[in-house]
Amino acid sequence: MTRTVYVNGDYLPETEARVSVFDRGFLMADGIYEVTSVLDGKLIDFAGHCVRLDRSCRELDMKNPHSQDEWLAIHREMVARNGITDGLVYLQVTRGNPGDRDFAYPSVDVEPTVVLFTQSKPGLADSPAAKTGWRVISIPDERWGRRDIKTVQLLYPSMGKMMAKKAGVDDAWFVEDGFVTEGTSNNAYIVKGNRIVTRALSNNILHGITRAAVLRFAAEAQMEVEERSFTIDEAKAADEAFITSASAFVMPVIEVDGAAIGSGKVGNVVPRLREIYLDEMRKAAV
Ligand code: PDD
Repeated sequence: MTRTVYVNGDYLPETEARVSVFDRGFLMADGIYEVTSVLDGKLIDFAGHCVRLDRSCRELDMKNPHSQDEWLAIHREMVARNGITDGLVYLQVTRGNPGDRDFAYPSVDVEPTVVLFTQSKPGLADSPAAKTGWRVISIPDERWGRRDIKTVQLLYPSMGKMMAKKAGVDDAWFVEDGFVTEGTSNNAYIVKGNRIVTRALSNNILHGITRAAVLRFAAEAQMEVEERSFTIDEAKAADEAFITSASAFVMPVIEVDGAAIGSGKVGNVVPRLREIYLDEMRKAAV
């Protein structure tokens, strides 16, 4: 299957798309990205992703090349041209091609490089893993200090995913100064009684778009939400645990470092949160 991808204003077969070898995204990981899920052909929490995209650009003194309406039109065109019912739209903006390699940002006006592609994932919201839950290991958080910016500098998260794979589990939770920061590509939570605990927002974690929605729905469902750091020991003693991301939505976590969390099976709270999240987000999809 040849996908249609988007590069700087053009919709092209993936085999014909070109980006310069001097692109700063390629040479310096000088770029930012967003992943938006698609359910029933519609974009989930699109406005949230646009707001974060704009913030990532600002934090890096990078030009956001499009307004929210323009981004929406491009996303919709990509969904239509690729016939996506369920799946993901990946969007990347880099500082562009200054024509040579230099650590300094280009002083002249260089147009950002904009790339989008889609990933078709039929049944994305019905993942069997949501019924069985993920198992995770903990690993040291050795990423840079501005994890709040969604950059394409993803080598350590990739290494973490490989450590998880080697350990025969689904993902890794990063730990810094004794406390969980987040998963390799998701935010991490524990549940104790009626209370959800997740790390507070700072430069140390990505400000998940799914996180914001889930915490809002949890509060509306009369659950207590406590935004504070927690340890792996506290996770082991929790009733339930989960992660959130645009691609996994709300995913139960049933084991950490070989220790069962709660009963070691998917509990009641996390599936309920997942259902509320999916119901509400489908209603608001664009
Ligand atoms: N990852 N934390 C990290 C480090 C992430 O990479 C992600 C998202 C999240 C969750 O953010 P959101 O709810 O906005 O998706 C948290 C995306 C899905 C990815 O890299 O594929």
